[in-house]
Amino acid sequence: MSFLLSVKSFLLGGCLSASTTLASLQWSPCPSNPALDCATLRVPLEYAEPLNGMSASIPLARYNATVVASQRKGSLLTNPGGPGASGVSFVLNGAGEAISNITGGFYDIIGWDPRGVGSAQPVLQCFATAGEEYEASQDLPAAAEVAYGQFSNQSYMPSYNAAMEEFDSATAQLAAACASYNSTALYTSSAAYVVRDMAAIVDALDGKDAHLNYWGLSYGTIFGVEFIQTYPKRAGKIVLDGVFDATANAETYIAQLPNDQLSVRDAINDLVSFCEQAGAAGCALSTPPANVTADLTTRLANLQESLYEHPIAVSEGFSITVGIFSAFMWSFSRVPTTWPLISSVVSALEKGDVTLMVAILNATAPSPPGNSSAPASGSLAEWPLQCMDNAPSSEITLAEVAALVLNISLSEDTPWLNADVTPLSFCRHFPDTRPRIPNLGASKLPVANSILTEQNTPVLIVNGEDDPVTPLASAERLRSQLPTASRLVTRRGPGHTTVSVASLGLVEAIRAYFIDSTLPTSAVHDLSQLVFSSEINAGTLTPPPVFNGTYTDAERTILNSTYNLLLAFLSLA
Ligand SMILES: *[C@@H]1O[C@H](CO)[C@@H](O)[C@H](O)[C@H]1NC(C)=O
Ligand SMILES: *[C@@H]1O[C@H](CO)[C@@H](O)[C@H](O)[C@H]1NC(C)=O
Ligand SMILES: *[C@@H]1O[C@H](CO)[C@@H](O)[C@H](O)[C@H]1NC(C)=O
Ligand SMILES: *[C@@H]1O[C@H](CO)[C@@H](O)[C@H](O)[C@H]1NC(C)=O
Ligand SMILES: *[C@@H]1O[C@H](CO)[C@@H](O)[C@H](O)[C@H]1NC(C)=O
Ligand SMILES: *[C@@H]1O[C@H](CO)[C@@H](O)[C@H](O)[C@H]1NC(C)=O
Ligand SMILES: *[C@@H]1O[C@H](CO)[C@@H](O)[C@H](O)[C@H]1NC(C)=O
Ligand SMILES: *[C@@H]1O[C@H](CO)[C@@H](O)[C@H](O)[C@H]1NC(C)=O
Ligand SMILES: *[C@@H]1O[C@H](CO)[C@@H](O)[C@H](O)[C@H]1NC(C)=O
Ligand SMILES: *[C@@H]1O[C@H](CO)[C@@H](O)[C@H](O)[C@H]1NC(C)=O
Repeated sequence: MSFLLSVKSFLLGGCLSASTTLASLQWSPCPSNPALDCATLRVPLEYAEPLNGMSASIPLARYNATVVASQRKGSLLTNPGGPGASGVSFVLNGAGEAISNITGGFYDIIGWDPRGVGSAQPVLQCFATAGEEYEASQDLPAAAEVAYGQFSNQSYMPSYNAAMEEFDSATAQLAAACASYNSTALYTSSAAYVVRDMAAIVDALDGKDAHLNYWGLSYGTIFGVEFIQTYPKRAGKIVLDGVFDATANAETYIAQLPNDQLSVRDAINDLVSFCEQAGAAGCALSTPPANVTADLTTRLANLQESLYEHPIAVSEGFSITVGIFSAFMWSFSRVPTTWPLISSVVSALEKGDVTLMVAILNATAPSPPGNSSAPASGSLAEWPLQCMDNAPSSEITLAEVAALVLNISLSEDTPWLNADVTPLSFCRHFPDTRPRIPNLGASKLPVANSILTEQNTPVLIVNGEDDPVTPLASAERLRSQLPTASRLVTRRGPGHTTVSVASLGLVEAIRAYFIDSTLPTSAVHDLSQLVFSSEINAGTLTPPPVFNGTYTDAERTILNSTYNLLLAFLSLA
């Protein structure tokens, strides 16, 4: 244990005083991309005792405004969600330039690694070494080995319960390891702490008590909602894109799981109808195998069933199981621009050919660490971070989890829910201890609504209609919680966050809001990007985009930038 402690205090850089909080930032070219500047901000580790204790360091990346200094409108922070994704990598990997393009170059685009994450210090480790961390990630099952098609079959229940138990106990091991490692970052990295860092970042960039301008995506919307309740007077221009439900997030994952699944079936229906419209030239799945007559929806269900009955062996100790298939479909259902390749994968799998699927699993799997005794990187932080922002969950029983998964699967007709149970299993095995400063969740939204209304700083909420991760229902709930201080604009179609399939109308609404504070008039926009087409290269997960319609060069630039924003998002996965 003393070895672990010494590693941790080394990472912290010793016990640093927090009194340097407001020191000015020292920017220098980022080592991995010198076209951007990087800096580090020191903040108190424990905001409950800000002047008396250790500090944390928060890395920042900046893509400079491109307009002349006199036209500059300040800083615009962005966060890609997770929780646990690096905002510095996001901005360095293209989000800085893409957001700058979309918002006219008026802002410095700022990414930061939220506490506990990426290169922040202390980082939220669950293990001392990279080797142990990698092993644990390999041992974490992708999904429970269950088949949706069996859910109304009573004689299946013993197998179902056994599969849920096996999944749950594997997840419990990771929870136990994270709890026992007890990282210094564990109880100081919840949303309440992250938004205090955001305020400190804006203080350091734009002056004490300056307004926050922000584009938060996915879990990043939780930080936006927490911020406007904690610092309503500091709300500037805030876009919340792909709304994570703050009310449900403040409860246990029992409340969140039903919410998460509300639009999964809509996304599957989009896949099926887009594929059928594109036909054989654009979507491999539009042609069934020779002896099959079922429609595509039924074929997808049959494939899951068939993998449950007969997993396909790939190599010694590795098979494509129903759990792997479900997790695969669930992950890629969020990113429609990957569907041309995913359709080829599934089409081959339907014929018993796993080669393409194995190649993608291979290419997207984390590689083993070069030095397994190097310190762990904190790559598993998303699980404990999510518990920290949820209510204590240790009272939840496995029987409750199993009943809930079955219920929601049937009521929402969602076949891949077994891949979305990890946070529930993880958190029910995690300590009920929570950080000293509690999150506000959604509790102060009425007050925030009054103050934002009074100062005329409405929030722009944007969401896809069939987003299978953050459903439109969550965006509508937030809209109703900020009745006079928000607008909701949607775009049609599937995909997680509005940038996952580009829509000119939607992105122009975001652009106008950031540039002129213009509030959108039209509430629903069409897609401007094709999901399937013979012009799309189905050989890669990230093909060059194909936009349908006639666009000016300026319009093409912001459509292209929307896609590049998605690529930056995907580079973090
Ligand atoms: C960004 O702008 C700042 C302030 O004008 C300047 O010091 C810095 O060199 C610029 N960074 C880059 C990469 O151009
Ligand atoms: C019901 O489940 C049992 C046990 O798993 C299985 O043997 C049987 O084939 C299933 N029945 C149907 C109609 O799928
Ligand atoms: C975990 O660490 C915190 C300080 O970060 C300490 O207060 C607490 O007692 C520790 N818990 C356990 C179970 O070791
Ligand atoms: C379809 O044909 C393939 C090979 O020709 C065979 O393996 C498979 O069992 C057949 N499927 C059905 C549903 O008959
Ligand atoms: C998957 O990766 C393993 C080891 O990295 C390699 O041996 C194998 O050839 C790869 N398979 C495919 C289909 O790419
Ligand atoms: C591996 O990491 C350990 C711990 O940080 C370090 O002491 C050792 O020198 C590293 N080995 C190599 C080959 O870099
Ligand atoms: C499952 O659904 C049934 C009927 O709708 C309901 O009575 C039961 O409480 C639900 N169970 C859970 C765990 O949600
Ligand atoms: C472009 O394609 C999308 C489907 O991706 C469709 O909904 C939209 O109406 C099309 N737009 C134009 C201008 O044809
Ligand atoms: C779209 O973005 C990519 C990557 O930045 C770039 O290579 C390409 O030239 C851009 N195309 C247009 C039409 O702007
Ligand atoms: C930003 O816009 C320029 C054209 O104005 C384009 O060359 C560049 O590729 C765009 N960058 C991104 C990341 O989309």
